Amino acid sequence: MPASSDTSQILEKEPSEFIVPAIGAWPRFTPPLRIGIMASGSGSNLEALHKATTQGFLDASLRLLIVNNPNCRAKERAARLQIPWQLIDHRLHSTRESLDNALVSAFRAADVEAVVMAGWMRIVTPVLIDAYPGRLINLHPSLLPSFKGLDAVGQALTAGVKITGCSVHHVQADVDSGAVIAQAAIPVHANDDVETLAKRIQRQEHRLLPWATALAGMQWRREGHAEVQG
Ligand code: GRF
Repeated sequence: MPASSDTSQILEKEPSEFIVPAIGAWPRFTPPLRIGIMASGSGSNLEALHKATTQGFLDASLRLLIVNNPNCRAKERAARLQIPWQLIDHRLHSTRESLDNALVSAFRAADVEAVVMAGWMRIVTPVLIDAYPGRLINLHPSLLPSFKGLDAVGQALTAGVKITGCSVHHVQADVDSGAVIAQAAIPVHANDDVETLAKRIQRQEHRLLPWATALAGMQWRREGHAEVQG
């Protein structure tokens, strides 16, 4: 126990990030994970996944990116990174189920074994969830179960929390509510606005998402073996 005058512990600078489970040894998969990705935005998390594979951390091949928005930057990144991509425009589908059916067909055609939602801004249905049971994961910019849904960063600022972050979780029918796989926490600074906080959360997303995909991959492959042996 430190003496009561010893303030070294409380004055010590807090680490600015905290990822749980901590990033450790990256698992190897034989063959590498066959991942599909869904994105609606700029695709920075797609690029983080790609970087983690090319640098030899995430043992996976990114088989197909699907975007729902013809103007999103994710497809430009995919083209630059030579990741196959496909546009499935949600406006051409009259129901969410019809959109999800198109997603499932495209992922099946690409022989995808699991799907990562990396900034997909549409609600998904059991059509997709049941096609990839336990194999559909989502990235959300809050420490779930806090601040589900839209504008999670703004919600955190409004609530006045001092710590926030991002989560990768399994997808189930209730939005942002499946079991958490991994989370990254960061402090909220007194002068943060939505833009500065979102930017710092995104830096953590780029570390968290590849790692959480690897963690989920261990589960997928264990289940795969059980199916084969069973
Ligand atoms: C991420 O911040 C994610 O949390 C949110 O959408 C953003 C996507 O960013 N749901 P990007 O398209 O990967 O750059």
